[in-house]
Amino acid sequence: MKITHTDGPPKDLLYFDEEMDLQQKDVEDVAEIFKTPLTGSYNWDYTVSDNRIKRLYELGKELNWNGSLDLNWDYTHPANEKLVEADEDLPHETLEAYENLTEEEKIEFDRHDTAELLSQFLHGEQGALLVASQLVSCAPTYNAKLYAASQTFDEARHVEVFNRYLQEKIGVHYPINPNLKALLDKILTDERWDLKFIGMQIIIEGLALAAFQMLKMLTKDPLLKQLLHYVVRDEARHVTFGINYLEDFIKTLTPEEIEERAEFAYEACVISRERLINTKAEQRFQKLKQESSL
Ligand SMILES: [Fe+2]
Ligand SMILES: [Fe+2]
Repeated sequence: MKITHTDGPPKDLLYFDEEMDLQQKDVEDVAEIFKTPLTGSYNWDYTVSDNRIKRLYELGKELNWNGSLDLNWDYTHPANEKLVEADEDLPHETLEAYENLTEEEKIEFDRHDTAELLSQFLHGEQGALLVASQLVSCAPTYNAKLYAASQTFDEARHVEVFNRYLQEKIGVHYPINPNLKALLDKILTDERWDLKFIGMQIIIEGLALAAFQMLKMLTKDPLLKQLLHYVVRDEARHVTFGINYLEDFIKTLTPEEIEERAEFAYEACVISRERLINTKAEQRFQKLKQESSL
């Protein structure tokens, strides 16, 4: 096992080659440390109350799926077709020259654009995995701990399938958008569990759900569509958990505490707005084009 510690996430693209036959000794884990003042709690009252959270936990067990078996990984979208056919109303505003590209270049651009978007999904899912596991310790009630544990497994599966799709079907990872990273840092290192909850369950997952649904609608790749279908189903449950649980918890707070949470939510929304603007693939593509025309 080889672990290398870094001060921050990678800044450049990471390419995966099908021919690469990695052995365990070739694998290097690159880890970035964060410290968090986690206030955990045991729960000594095992009484199970039948409430909305318990029902969501049951639903999660019923709708469990296996990323290796339930998706058709044998399918690879034709290399001469786009993965995502953008809506005519959504032009690539910042890539002025887009319309002047050849069909081949447009397809190449589509691969990079989709890889950048899916990479943000992947990094966000890793963040969700880490936060959900913190919630198992922090959430104060029995049903919420069990639910958070089931969500942790859901998030692991999401990391697994986005990573596999990117590596096997596109062959490139984009680095994390700095705004998304800043938001994850904020959520992971805050000591108040309900702020983690607001940041992750409501804001990040709420936005992610909308982005997943949009991509599910636009993509022409049936494998990606199927993958997103399963992920969306899980995320809808996660957001519902966040809303239901907070509805009850917020009632126990003072007006000052509520105000603090509102400010946190507002700040998180502002950062999230920035993260929705993906420009790196476009910049990258323009650079590649310039280089190739030299
Ligand atoms: Fe997820
Ligand atoms: Fe989630």
